[in-house]
Amino acid sequence: MPVLHDFFASKTVVITGAASGIGRALASVFADLGCNVAICDIDESALSDVALQLKSTHPALTLFTSVLDVANKTDWETYLADVASHCEHIDIVINNAGIEGSSQPAWASDDELLKRVMDVNFYGMVYGSKAALPYLTQRSWAALVNVSSVFGLVAPPNTADYCAIDILPAL
Ligand SMILES: NC(=O)c1ccc[n+]([C@@H]2O[C@H](COP(=O)([O-])OP(=O)(O)OC[C@H]3O[C@@H](n4cnc5c(N)ncnc54)[C@H](O)[C@@H]3O)[C@@H](O)[C@H]2O)c1
Repeated sequence: MPVLHDFFASKTVVITGAASGIGRALASVFADLGCNVAICDIDESALSDVALQLKSTHPALTLFTSVLDVANKTDWETYLADVASHCEHIDIVINNAGIEGSSQPAWASDDELLKRVMDVNFYGMVYGSKAALPYLTQRSWAALVNVSSVFGLVAPPNTADYCAIDILPAL
């Protein structure tokens, strides 16, 4: 742990979908490691709860909290500029935000939800990666993490919309 801490201390990690589940857990882990943590989510209320919790458990934490819809390309550029301004540099970006599909057979799936799944799970990752790479490539070490799913490898029934985006985890 001390070696890991030495490596990660003062690095800045950006985590999307940090108000819940995996993203929330990642925020806590990186705060433990001494990183500056930039958390974002579309759910403002749940994100505020996470921010309060992190600040109470890590009083010295450099924390940047902002509402972001990852499907909005323009907002990504503004958001990362704000993170860079607050935290000085960006070293790790984790595109974690995602939503479930309709859980219906493909022929019965809702077109609006299908489009939203694509916009969030696929284009959210694309926009986030494109906006992040100019910052990450300025660093001597950096990481871009695009969270996918085993559903990119296997396709159970009623998951056509969710599986469609998960075959594209790497840009
Ligand atoms: N939990 C699993 O078993 C599992 C398995 C494989 C892959 N995944 C993937 O891991 C990621 C996280 O999963 P989880 O289980 O923690 O999910 P979760 O639902 O607990 O958390 C996802 C978070 O993303 C946020 N979000 C949704 N749409 C958003 C948007 N447009 N912009 C910003 N934030 C948005 C939600 O508000 C939520 O806080 C997802 O991409 C999911 O597809 C999860």
